[in-house]
Amino acid sequence: MHGSAAAIPHQTLRRMFSTRTDWDLRPSPLYSLLQQKRARGEEVLDLTESNPTKCGFIHSSSALIDSGSLQRSVLYEPDPQGLLSARQAIADWYKHQSINVDPGRIVLASSTSEAYSFLFRLLCNVGDVVAVPKPSYPLFEYLAHLNDILCQQYRLAYDGEWHIDLSSVDDALSSNAETLILVHPNNPTGSFVKKDERDRVVSEALARNIPIIVDEVFSAFSFLDDARCAESFAGTSSTLTFTINGLSKLLGLPQMKLAWIVVSGPDEECEKAVQRLEVIADTYLSVGTLVQQALSRLLNDTEAMTGKILARTKNNYEFLRTACTAGSSATLFRCEGAWNAILRLPEKKSDEEWAREILQSAGVLTHPGHLFDIEMKSCIVLSLLPEQRVFSEGVTKILTLIGQAGENVTGDRLSSG
Ligand SMILES: Cc1ncc(COP(=O)(O)O)c(C=O)c1O
Repeated sequence: MHGSAAAIPHQTLRRMFSTRTDWDLRPSPLYSLLQQKRARGEEVLDLTESNPTKCGFIHSSSALIDSGSLQRSVLYEPDPQGLLSARQAIADWYKHQSINVDPGRIVLASSTSEAYSFLFRLLCNVGDVVAVPKPSYPLFEYLAHLNDILCQQYRLAYDGEWHIDLSSVDDALSSNAETLILVHPNNPTGSFVKKDERDRVVSEALARNIPIIVDEVFSAFSFLDDARCAESFAGTSSTLTFTINGLSKLLGLPQMKLAWIVVSGPDEECEKAVQRLEVIADTYLSVGTLVQQALSRLLNDTEAMTGKILARTKNNYEFLRTACTAGSSATLFRCEGAWNAILRLPEKKSDEEWAREILQSAGVLTHPGHLFDIEMKSCIVLSLLPEQRVFSEGVTKILTLIGQAGENVTGDRLSSG
């Protein structure tokens, strides 16, 4: 030790890191087991893979970047909201769905996760609360904490299909939530917001002057043609609404780093929101010029890639459905779309124990349900993205293992309410 610092007792040294980043970074037992298996060179069928580029969904390089986009990218002329040509391309994409969006009311971000951060910065003060669905996507807690805010969960209940528990939304809004988040369709339940739910939630938010954030990253991946499902919220005009989407799911292009926020609602509020978002975006200027220049071409033909991904997820879901009928001890939750499915296994083991046993004995990696805050016991979450051989082999191994465990699901109705 050199100098006077050596003499300062440890307790008096100033804190180095923020308490915000005091995470428990020890690997979970499941992750440690995975590392051991991989170190031993054992094959693991990964049914948690959610990276489309690792599941065979590869765009050709020439489809991603053309020489015109490259040529237009040699100059740096940033627009904090995003280049007008890119915002116009997004407006055109909505127009194909018969939704009118003003390019002046679109703000680009590098990902929907970043879009959430922009919106939390716009709408919340330190310590504010946002209402988020449960079960849902695990990143919310992290995004909220990194932005010094808190999540209050409202419930999705299951009675053969998932519903928003409207009384729990009311509770969240009437206690202290500053913002309401809807995920449409939700991950991992794959449930779309229904029109009657939308009407109730939007009028509640309006009555309380609470803005809504709607995450539509999986909206293109619907298994059903269900007239009860709400359309995109990008056309909502009654209350201040921020609809987010992006290339990571729509085109299976997380590496391109482009997402967007559509601001809709009463004019005066929208204008103020866009002005402030522009300053937030200007602070980072995080979206690359090249992808913005390529956007109109990329969005011009989303159907080919979206269609391929949808065909895979639908096919895998159908395989799971067939495999889980007729005498199986696993029960599949109804899924209306998106990229994950939830399986309920016999209650003898917890979700974490099942995930470990499935990895240990069957060599298949799955998510334990608690990762997504699934209340019901013994649920695991499977990604529907993997190639069909990997998916069907993985599912067959899981069901064989469970069958060998000689168990039956407790027989009670699948219901969280
Ligand atoms: C519901 C939901 N929203 C947003 C994201 C993040 O997407 P991005 O890659 O655009 O940050 C995910 C990622 O899985 C997600 O499940």
